[in-house]
Amino acid sequence: MKGLSTVTVQTVDPHPIAIEHNGRHADHPVSLLFLGRWSPRAFTAEPIPQETLLTLFEAARWAPSAFNSQPWRFVYARRDTPAFEAFLSFLIPYNQAWAKSASALVVVLSKAAFLQPGKSEPTISGSASFDTGAAWASLALQAYKLGWATHGMTGFDKDAARRVVKAPEEYRLEAVVAIGKRADPATLPPQLAERETPNGRRPLNETAFEGELR
Ligand SMILES: Cc1cc2nc3c(=O)[nH]c(=O)nc-3n(C[C@H](O)[C@H](O)[C@H](O)COP(=O)(O)O)c2cc1C
Repeated sequence: MKGLSTVTVQTVDPHPIAIEHNGRHADHPVSLLFLGRWSPRAFTAEPIPQETLLTLFEAARWAPSAFNSQPWRFVYARRDTPAFEAFLSFLIPYNQAWAKSASALVVVLSKAAFLQPGKSEPTISGSASFDTGAAWASLALQAYKLGWATHGMTGFDKDAARRVVKAPEEYRLEAVVAIGKRADPATLPPQLAERETPNGRRPLNETAFEGELR
């Protein structure tokens, strides 16, 4: 039509299928996304925009869950806030040593009880932790796509964390996640600096089986 032009938008997939990336070797071709994401400990200590954090939680929000019960909850603290210092205080010293340079710390919780439509008594999901794991994985991959790194931790005092984030008993404390921009490994204490590299995995044929577990 006269006066109208067609604009073709071409997007290039920044994460094409690959077998080798980041010093990691896949047994089968997979998106670079999965080989590229890893859990560093050297972080730049720069601030993270609130909008970025919300995008990460948005990614987690769309994870699948039993009955769409969405058992995950996230309580976050951005660096240079009193909450960040409080969150740091409940990490084990080993994790404090590097997580102190993160841009944000996130407590990941799950709540197994949920109300099904039309029912008056809560149902207890048997997969609240499983579902919350899917949500954290989505958050981690979205962060990686945006140039941020994540590092999950179970090395923290759950009772202390529960008190700090004011989580009632029905919430399970699953993990804490550090989010930040990767820094030079030389910024880490020497024993952590030498471990600052992507690790591998056991072979796929020891993980996935046809028909029965072997
Ligand atoms: C639930 C969970 C708990 C973890 N706890 C810790 C921790 O307390 N301290 C730590 O340094 N790394 C911790 N990690 C990081 C793992 O060691 C790491 O994810 C694993 O070695 C795989 O490496 P990758 O994430 O770089 O691929 C944890 C990871 C997850 C998912």
